[in-house]
Amino acid sequence: MLVIPDADRWNHNIHYHRLIERALPQGCASALDVGCGEGVLARQLRRQVPEVVGIDLDEPSIMLARQQSSSCGIRFVVGDVFTYPFDPASFGAVTSVATLHHLDARAGLERMADLLKPGGTLVVVGLARSRLPRDLHRELCATMVHRIHRIRRGYWEHSAPTVWPPPMTYGEMRALAMTSLSGCVFRRHALWRYSITWTKPDT
Ligand SMILES: C[S@@+](CC[C@H](N)C(=O)[O-])C[C@H]1O[C@@H](n2cnc3c(N)ncnc32)[C@H](O)[C@@H]1O
Repeated sequence: MLVIPDADRWNHNIHYHRLIERALPQGCASALDVGCGEGVLARQLRRQVPEVVGIDLDEPSIMLARQQSSSCGIRFVVGDVFTYPFDPASFGAVTSVATLHHLDARAGLERMADLLKPGGTLVVVGLARSRLPRDLHRELCATMVHRIHRIRRGYWEHSAPTVWPPPMTYGEMRALAMTSLSGCVFRRHALWRYSITWTKPDT
């Protein structure tokens, strides 16, 4: 199997991994990546976090993740994030990229928040639907930014299952995030992604 090194892979999800890494709490001891696919983000998190778990429903993706990850302190499990028997409040960080639109989004945010330790950070990078023609300028801008990056970096297609189109618009996702995760920061990004960053209150 020809394996492309993680550092040589680029796509719209990987583009936002740095945002996630920057949001990790200081001294974070454990992280869970929900919908980890082939494990690119989990491997990146492992550089800063001693114990990382990646979970995905898709067995072939988890097999690939395991084949590509030699580091100790990283575990990949096949399972459904809603039913896998994780202990509540057991992770210092929970991350999820391009996965929330596969789930009931409200239930997904609640489940990820439950799995976080008090003081821990949740970072979701997700997909939502644009509203046309109102968002046309954003679509044109995204297409230009995409082309520039693609020329420089190429484009790596992940093999994990996809869902298209995303069921919720950016506005709906923002409203849901604000009501589900009090005090969260919602940002809409250039390359067809939004992010939600939230720190679980200590009390
Ligand atoms: C579009 S892929 C994203 C993969 C990876 N995060 C990335 O950025 O390349 C979404 C992943 O979410 C996984 N997934 C969907 N529902 C899930 C669930 N309930 N529990 C765990 N994983 C789930 C799918 O199997 C799929 O691999």
